[in-house]
Amino acid sequence: MEENIFDEALSYVKHLLAEEYSGHDWYHAVRVCNTAEKLAIAEGANLETVRLAALLHDVDDRKLFPETYEGKLHAASFLRQHNYPAKKIAEILTIIQEVSFAGTDSVVPHTVEGKCVQDADRLDAIGAIGVGRAFAYGGSHDRLMYDPETSPQENMDRTSYYASKSTTINHFYEKLLLLKDMMTTPSGRKIAEGRDAFLRSFLSEFLAEWEGTL
Ligand code: ADP
Ligand code: NI
Repeated sequence: MEENIFDEALSYVKHLLAEEYSGHDWYHAVRVCNTAEKLAIAEGANLETVRLAALLHDVDDRKLFPETYEGKLHAASFLRQHNYPAKKIAEILTIIQEVSFAGTDSVVPHTVEGKCVQDADRLDAIGAIGVGRAFAYGGSHDRLMYDPETSPQENMDRTSYYASKSTTINHFYEKLLLLKDMMTTPSGRKIAEGRDAFLRSFLSEFLAEWEGTL
């Protein structure tokens, strides 16, 4: 294995996500990698696997790269080109697959490494950065910020989740506020609590301003 595989992975992600402005830019991968590493240290997970899987977790995302999603072709070809051992490639591709499930079709990853990456990815969707990403996503997908006449949908499976044309504020109720209780590592859960509290105070401030009570 090459010494600089992490730097190479970073450049690869930067290149693939260079034109991405919907909350999945390459800094998202960097933040997920840093958070996942922190969780991995706390949980005693394998750091190399966690860091590589975190950096590559969105390079075959269903929405961004529908043509490579099924076979995880970007991640697989990157790792093969860097002579990464086949068994470890399979492990990383499984983590990426498990992290990508959405809505009520989400799965609990079967390894502690997968749990660290999934929790880190979810942590980046809550807190102040989570708020920023949600509005960036909404803007780039022609969504209203808020519409008092459209109520949130509950318990969406993966199909309805992807078909949904909800507002960004509804997305808080449909997904973001559920993430704290979906954490599967104790260290992820702890960070999620603070970020979830911030989301809730942001929402009450937003709605109070909207309703003119602030
Ligand atoms: P992941 O990083 O796991 O691929 P998603 O693709 O589900 O996560 O979401 C990426 C970011 O886009 C998250 O911060 C999420 O809140 C935001 N997002 C996804 N769907 C919506 C939506 N319908 N409205 C607003 N933001 C969304
Ligand atoms: Ni992600």
